[in-house]
Amino acid sequence: RTLLLGQSLEFTRNPMAARAEGAPPEDAARHLSHAGVLIEDGLIGAFGEAATLAARYPEAPIIDYGAGLILPGFVDAHVHYAQTGIIASWGKRLIDWLNDYTFPEERRFADPAYAITLAGRYLDLVLANGTTTVASYGTVHAESVTALFQAALARGMAVVAGKTCMDRNAPDWLTDTPQSAYDDSARLIRRWHGQNRATYAVTPRFAPTSSPEQLEVMGALWAENPGTLMQTHLSEQVEEIAWVKDLYPKARDYLDVYETYGLTGPGAVFGHAIHLTDREIAHLSDSGSSVVHCPTSNAFIGSGLFQAARLAKAGITMGLATDTGGGSSFSMLRTMAAAYDISQLAGTPLHPAELLWLATAGAAESLQMQDQVGTLAPGSAADIIVLDLNSTPAIAQRAQRAGDIWGALFPTMMMGDDRALRSVWVSGAERQRQPDSRPAAAG
Ligand code: GUN
Ligand code: ZN
Repeated sequence: RTLLLGQSLEFTRNPMAARAEGAPPEDAARHLSHAGVLIEDGLIGAFGEAATLAARYPEAPIIDYGAGLILPGFVDAHVHYAQTGIIASWGKRLIDWLNDYTFPEERRFADPAYAITLAGRYLDLVLANGTTTVASYGTVHAESVTALFQAALARGMAVVAGKTCMDRNAPDWLTDTPQSAYDDSARLIRRWHGQNRATYAVTPRFAPTSSPEQLEVMGALWAENPGTLMQTHLSEQVEEIAWVKDLYPKARDYLDVYETYGLTGPGAVFGHAIHLTDREIAHLSDSGSSVVHCPTSNAFIGSGLFQAARLAKAGITMGLATDTGGGSSFSMLRTMAAAYDISQLAGTPLHPAELLWLATAGAAESLQMQDQVGTLAPGSAADIIVLDLNSTPAIAQRAQRAGDIWGALFPTMMMGDDRALRSVWVSGAERQRQPDSRPAAAG
């Protein structure tokens, strides 16, 4: 047992849904200026007022973070861990970026030793940035998924992953077949899904790299394995959408391709989802599918402006993600900043409460993990971060003028990096810690 003390924030509902109904998004959250979080056996044992918890658990050792902001660890709902080595590769749009940078790098994961090295490196990078859960694509190689699940297990992390399935429009050395995609994925599900904190996601890369036969077996496999997720890409770039129209001429739109093969519904997680028709939005909503916003990637690869407010109005479950390595950062703070910038360009600025929701509870809900991660509610995993809201002189001088917690947090969202992470806990064990930049006495 350990009792953490600091400030905290608690969502009482989805602030994006609140705003869509005309309520102020900040009313969906509660600020506790003196909060306590009790860690017990790797889980959150209790959460509430510091004084109440200190009285109730007098024997629990206390770690007092002062004005540090205690939050659930960030959840990154769409990444390609295997693209860690090519993050920040210059000058290409999606199709060329895949062919010139991504596929050659993903080929290297045929070597399990390389996969193990990169999986560990990747998870350590995200932990240093306060991300405690990711949903990652593997490469076409089953061993790439084994490497990530094993690295997650070693760190106590809840991770979603799946073997990327692709049987056309990619180099021979990086493709599978409908049968091998089915067999390899099924074997990984049996080995990993539900073991410790591992969740399997059936992972067809995207419609252009899967034949109709492959999408059909993906749909069958997903239906045969309730509780697994399905992750893929949807309507990221206009050239891609035109290509899908050519490849699947009978489909009403891009989403209809997935719909046809049973790849929509609760547990279906669509990355990007930028250029959507009203029909696609209606089906995403009606089917209970979720959508993941990848703002740094959408800017970096030149994809377009995600319409968060439009999707929220339709009641679609939404999460936030880096999309490493199409995205240009491992940091969910940086990603919230990019989401804010894009929301401004799209005409409806996201409130800090909405940004925080997307990076925690929203991302968790998009992965159907809202009872385990993205929250400090008792019974969920003790995956916890503590943010220093004064981590650099530039941030501190701005945060000093804040009128409330959102004003105090927003400069860290916009300008913060890994220096803002005072502490990172995973499954009740502290994985990273740095000294407070400003002693509590000065705060
Ligand atoms: N669409 C298909 N594959 C990918 C990928 O690896 N990254 C991004 N951003 N989009 C994709
Ligand atoms: Zn992606």
